[in-house]
Amino acid sequence: MKFFLDTANLQQIQEAASMGILDGVTTNPSLMAKEGIKGQDNVLQHYKAICDIVGHGDVSAEVISTDFAGMVREGEILASIHENIVVKVPMIKDGIKAIRYFTDNGIRTNCTLVFSAGQAILAAKAGATYVSPFIGRIDDIGGDGMDLITQIVHIYGIQGFETEVLAASIRSPLHIIKCAEMGADVVTCPLSAIEGLFNHPLTDSGLQKFLEDYKKVNG
Ligand code: E4P
Repeated sequence: MKFFLDTANLQQIQEAASMGILDGVTTNPSLMAKEGIKGQDNVLQHYKAICDIVGHGDVSAEVISTDFAGMVREGEILASIHENIVVKVPMIKDGIKAIRYFTDNGIRTNCTLVFSAGQAILAAKAGATYVSPFIGRIDDIGGDGMDLITQIVHIYGIQGFETEVLAASIRSPLHIIKCAEMGADVVTCPLSAIEGLFNHPLTDSGLQKFLEDYKKVNG
């Protein structure tokens, strides 16, 4: 399972990259706004900076247009920034048309804002590289986001769809573990959720004891 970081924050991307476990990055307009990135030139430069840190991993850059022509125009510009850019397109009818266009023209895509198995099937039929079901936002309204991941992984498996299941809107280390169990291809997470995987009190107390015992003998 690949680990993507769900942020546009360069410091956090650098931090995850330095751990040697970073496979890519996803962004969205809200995450870009959080970093104060505005204006087309700055946005494009910021994506370039992210790609430079990530190296070989994919970087999802989202279109703002909601009509086919606008999405194609924006997506082609985004894809020209760097070979690792994946154009992120919303799950709407024009979005599916745009994904089909990008697929046919060799541009990789991430179909975002996916909340049902039916939407995931449409994304796969259009040839999306990734589909992004939003686990946390389903949990937020009392549903079970993990059920959706299980269902999509199952459907893609029996149908032979090549689209990768990119579990998004991850809120916790447990989401990451459950996604691994369910066979998601990718998780995109805040840095805090990844760092949460390190934590275990027995690791902390065990290390402390090892160091104390070493000092007793070695001074
Ligand atoms: C990533 O592709 C999504 O845009 C992101 O995971 C959404 O996460 P959120 O629900 O925490 O905003």
